[in-house]
Amino acid sequence: MPEEIKKEISDREETDKKEKKPPPKTKRGRSNREKLEPKLAQANRSVRSEEQKPVKVPVQPTTSYIRNLKGKRPIVGLTAYDAILGSAVSAADVDFILVGDSLGTTLLGHDTTVAVTMNDMVSHCAAVRRSSPQCLLVADLPFGEASLSFDRLLDSSRRLMQEGGADAIKIEGGRDIADDIEKLVATGIPVLGHIGLLPQTVKAIGGYRKFGETREEAESIYTDAITLEEAGCFAIVAEMLNEQVASELTKQILPPLIGIGSGTGCDGQILVTTDLLGWSNGPVPKFVKPYANLNKIVSVALAKYVNDVRGD
Ligand code: KIV
Repeated sequence: MPEEIKKEISDREETDKKEKKPPPKTKRGRSNREKLEPKLAQANRSVRSEEQKPVKVPVQPTTSYIRNLKGKRPIVGLTAYDAILGSAVSAADVDFILVGDSLGTTLLGHDTTVAVTMNDMVSHCAAVRRSSPQCLLVADLPFGEASLSFDRLLDSSRRLMQEGGADAIKIEGGRDIADDIEKLVATGIPVLGHIGLLPQTVKAIGGYRKFGETREEAESIYTDAITLEEAGCFAIVAEMLNEQVASELTKQILPPLIGIGSGTGCDGQILVTTDLLGWSNGPVPKFVKPYANLNKIVSVALAKYVNDVRGD
């Protein structure tokens, strides 16, 4: 086990002893630390070392492909919301496409993702499926669908797969939703977890911010991640996590941790495609490096067309 992880565990145990606080338990009753120690040895074997060259693995549309990339090379996910973006993103050879509920803010003009409905998700996912992507297609479960009842959750997940053509679904939340995720996975529905900043809770948390900056919050995030691992998530998205916490967590859990705004120490990265393309009419998060400025290209082209038709 690398020295820094041993130190992290022993520092935390020392603090716990001093505070006489038992380590947090996952829902299934085991503490993070009881679970983490044997896992660390296992997980560390697969963590990419700095010298290791990325392995060329051809993209396959399966969750086991995504799982098995852990420790081999960084995983790349991007969002797509329609057939044209679906073909472009698939042609770029990404490992998976997410039909994110970010479509509410990027395409549909909403302020947050809260307004996105099941019908929106099914219709956009089906459009991406029609572009015949060569990689795994994951669809977001929209706001509220996981909270009403397990039957509703199962039915909504079924719709995303049967009507939308998704291969897997993504659900925001940690230990609170883990029991239902376990049941979905047992039913044959692959689940991508999502921890850290949960955009669907933005109205409740009062805005977008980094997570895991305090020791208490970092512990809580560890517990969420381990509970999701136990529930059977094939990978976990970590949004806006403190970079050190994200990088430790990457080493400590078995499913790949896919970061967004959580630093480069994760097993992979996902981004909102329109953000990196500069194709957006709202603010773009600071952590996004722009690779193009489609807003500018499009406005110049459209103005030129209008001038040409008018003969200006
Ligand atoms: O909806 C979305 O696009 C997402 C990503 C930001 C991970 O959840």
